Parts: sequence; C-alpha cells; structure tokens
Amino acid sequence: MNKKVTKAVFPVAGLGTRFLPATKAVAKEMLPIVDKPLMQYAVEEAMAAGIDTMIFITGRSKNAIMDHYDKAYEMEVELEARGKDELLKVLRSILPSHISCVFIRQPEALGLGHAVYCARPVVGDEPFAVILPDDLVEDGTRGCMAQMTALYAEKQCSILAVERVDPSQTGSYGIVKTGEATGSYSPIDLIVEKPKPEVAPSNLAVIGRYILNPAIFDKLKHTGRGAGGEIQLTDGIADLMKDEQVLAFEFEGTRYDCGAKLGFLVANVELGLLHPGLKDEFAAYLKALAVSGKI
Ligand code: G1P
Repeated sequence: MNKKVTKAVFPVAGLGTRFLPATKAVAKEMLPIVDKPLMQYAVEEAMAAGIDTMIFITGRSKNAIMDHYDKAYEMEVELEARGKDELLKVLRSILPSHISCVFIRQPEALGLGHAVYCARPVVGDEPFAVILPDDLVEDGTRGCMAQMTALYAEKQCSILAVERVDPSQTGSYGIVKTGEATGSYSPIDLIVEKPKPEVAPSNLAVIGRYILNPAIFDKLKHTGRGAGGEIQLTDGIADLMKDEQVLAFEFEGTRYDCGAKLGFLVANVELGLLHPGLKDEFAAYLKALAVSGKI
C-alpha cells in the first residue's frame, strides 16, 4: 500500500546568533516576514501538503513558538467581546483544530541530523517531512512541500528539494551530484555537506525541504560528527543511499534564505509586494524611493 506523509519535523533549536540582538529573547523563527512569523509560513506549507502532525524540535528560549501554537484564550475572549470577527478568524486560523503539535526538546545542539533523530519516537515507522523554516519558499500556489508529497505519492522514496546556487556558495549547503533527470527529479549519486567550491561535485544545493523514509533513523543513530563537528543529516542521507534511492527535486518557486539578514530583508520586500492589503501602497513607496535618488 502506498504510504502517505502526515508528519513534519521542524528543527528549531538553533540559537539564531546571526540575528542578535533581535534574537536574544525572541526565537528567530518568530521574527515576522511582513505580518507572519517565519515559523507560520513553514507550518502553513506543511498543512497545504496535507500534513496534520507538526513536530517541533526546540531548545531553551523557544517558548514563544509553543505559545504561538497554543490557544490564546484571553485574546479570543477580548476580540469576541469587541466584535473583531476578522481578527478572531486570523487568530483561530493559526492552528486549525485537526492539526496536532508535538514539542520535543533537543537537549544539546549536536547538529541537524541529531535534531531529526530526536523526532524518532513520534514519527515511528512512517515517511515524514523535514522543513527548515529559515528557507522560506513561495511558489504562488500549493507550496513546495505539496509539490514534494505529490512526487512521493508516486515514487515512495526519500526526496530532497534542490536548487542551483552560485558556485562560490557551495560551502553553505549540502551539495548533490545527480544522474539523468526525468522532468523535475533525478537520482542522487553523491551528497556532501558544505564542500568548498574547489571540491564540490556540482552547484546543486539541498534546501531546507526533505521527505525521508523512516530507515533514515537507523542511519542517524550511527552517524558520527561530520562537517563543523556536528551530526549532519547529509551524512545520514549518504548512508541511506547505500540501501535506497534518494531523489533530488527541482521545485517550482522562489527560495528566500531568511537565515541571513539580506535574504530576510529581500523576503520582506518581495512578500510585502504580494500582500493583498499592502502591495499597492508599498509598491508606490518603493517607486518613489527609487526616483528620489536614495537608492
Ligand atoms: C542545513 C543542511 C544543509 C542544507 C541547508 C539548507 O545547513 O545541513 O545540508 O543545504 O540546511 O538550508 P544549515 O543552513 O543549517 O547550516
């Protein structure tokens, strides 16, 4: 019987030091892009893919994420009393009632592979998605993860979303070498974590979207420390590839690297230009700014 992806793992234990001082007391995943926290984009993308169990791998000082997905009882009562129905709808839509959230503490920041392994008791023996909220993907329609679950429904094997990056940037990503492509997907022959440009097998980079078969857990259990002294998901996947085919998938849409200040700003500008209530005024402002000579 074909298996379905119903669970998503969000590794969100990272300290977010690149965004200090903003992230001293606030989880970086709670920083807003226009009017929604980064975390919410990732959860909405999972929901759009038919996923109903959200598993957050958190750490200290990430309580705001838990609060965000809790019922805001006082706020609801207040908005109801004031007849603010639209806002009440926004508040309630954060987490529809058929969605479950599970929070797991990653006691030590040992790496992405370790974070994913922490989800094992909840994921069990099922395929699952991994979504890194830092990578925000906007495709204007169903979302990157829905594109991937559609392919999974057909192929039933692990799938990594990839995109071409500037060859000078390979040291920031998991990089794959692939065989012959069939449309938007191709078999992965080799995967390496953060290779320097001189030794990178290609410039095809893994972005923060994965669908993994549960066999990855037995691999991660034995994965030692790799690049940067961390237990890398990439190394677990390389091990999995000895037994199973893993596919690279060139998704449709634009990825914003919101883990970096520039990518975060670019996402705010571009998503601001798509926001129904803001786009016209914001576009007029940007045009005026351009003619003013300030940029
Ligand atoms: C992680 C992964 C890397 C992947 C990247 C995508 O790296 O280890 O393989 O390409 O996410 O954003 P990080 O950005 O956490 O250093």
